[in-house]
Amino acid sequence: MRPLIAPSVLASDFANLQSEVEMLNNSQADWLHIDIMDGRFVPNISFGFPVLEAIKRYAQKPLDVHLMIVEPEQYIERFREAGADTISVHVEASTHLHRTLQQIKATGAKAGIAVNPHTSVHLLEDVIADADLVCLMSVNPGFGGQKFIENTYRKIEALKNLIIQRNSQALIEIDGGVNQHNAPLLLEKGADVLVAGSFVFSADDPAQTIADLKSSK
Ligand code: DX5
Ligand code: ZN
Repeated sequence: MRPLIAPSVLASDFANLQSEVEMLNNSQADWLHIDIMDGRFVPNISFGFPVLEAIKRYAQKPLDVHLMIVEPEQYIERFREAGADTISVHVEASTHLHRTLQQIKATGAKAGIAVNPHTSVHLLEDVIADADLVCLMSVNPGFGGQKFIENTYRKIEALKNLIIQRNSQALIEIDGGVNQHNAPLLLEKGADVLVAGSFVFSADDPAQTIADLKSSK
C-alpha cells in the first residue's frame, strides 16, 4: 500500500505561508503535519492557534496536529476549534493518557499518541486499542532537520506486533529525519504515514519530492 505523506509545515517559509499551503494542496501530500512546541515539553517554541487558524483557512487536506506541550489536556478543544483533524499528545506528557484520548475523540478529532525515541512502545499496550494513530519520533522532538535515529526500525516492528495483538486500528506514523533513503525500509517495517519537513521544503521541487516519497518502495 502507498504511504500517506504528511509534510511538516514547520520547515516551510512562514513569510509565504499561504503559497506554501497552496503548494501542498496541489501536491500528493495527504495531510499537513503541524508541530506545536511550548518551550517546556521541548526546548523550542514554534507557533500556536493564530497560525494554525491561518493554515486552516487555505488547507484543503486534513491537519495532523502534533502537540509537543505539557498538560495537553488543557488545550484539546481549542486545537480542534482552530482546525485540527488529528490531535497527537505525547505519552510522556500525559498523566491520564486514556482519558485524554477519549477527550480528543469527543471533539470529533482522531486521537494520536506520540512517542519519544527513548520510550518503549510496550508502554502503549493498554491504550493502543483506543488510538487512531501512533507517532513514533525518529528524532528527539523540538527541531526540524535532525538526523534519523536507526533504532526506529526496531520500534516499528514491535509496535506493529502490538497493534495486531490488540486488534487496534492505529496507523503508524514516523516523524523526524525522514527522506528518500530511509523511506523504503520504514515502509517495509510497517510504517503507514511518513512526516517529512526539511527533506521536502529544502528540495528544489517540494511537490516532486512529495510525489517521490509517495511512490517509495
Ligand atoms: C520535530 C517535529 C517534526 C519535524 C520533522 O520536533 O515533530 O515533525 O518537523 O522535520 P524533519 O523532517 O526536518 O526532521
Ligand atoms: Zn512532528
